[in-house]
Amino acid sequence: MKRVIAIYPGSFDPPTNGHLDLIQRGAKIFSELVVGILRNSEKAPLFTVDERLDMLRQCTSQWPNVRIESFEGLLVDFARDRGAQAVLRGIRAVSDYEYELQMAWMNRKLDPTLETVFMMPAGAYSYLSSRLVREIAALGGSLATLVPASVEEQLRLRLGVAPLAPK
Ligand code: PNS
Repeated sequence: MKRVIAIYPGSFDPPTNGHLDLIQRGAKIFSELVVGILRNSEKAPLFTVDERLDMLRQCTSQWPNVRIESFEGLLVDFARDRGAQAVLRGIRAVSDYEYELQMAWMNRKLDPTLETVFMMPAGAYSYLSSRLVREIAALGGSLATLVPASVEEQLRLRLGVAPLAPK
């Protein structure tokens, strides 16, 4: 069978269970999945790239064909460097579609040989985003089922929020 390498790019600030769901799905259909954390983001991130690399490595060690890396510059150049034929992106809802389609078209313009593949996470994660996770964490809400326990712990430490008292 043909070996297909895919890149799953993103900010992952922080990684959520939705990201992990997509990584698991991608790891099933691609020979190798390279998760690429964007380094040159203009946004001021909550976690450094090295922290996000560590978090994702910890949460994905059970999948031998998944590799976590960071990249700078154009995604198409990173994909070419890694010998990837596909880019994996998640679509949670129709609202994601316009932005994702624009990126996919632009990436196709930059490199017509690179295919973008869209996958849906489990329905339970269709409303989940890193931005909402950061907001809930900052306001002391429960993140159980939204992020791995290790990520929740890092969020609480970073934001100086005490763990929730058991009910
Ligand atoms: O998780 P995000 O923030 O939605 O991911 C966006 C990402 C990293 C996929 C996108 O910003 C990207 O690919 N940036 C790399 C620079 C690039 O190639 N820009 C042109 C894309 S059309």
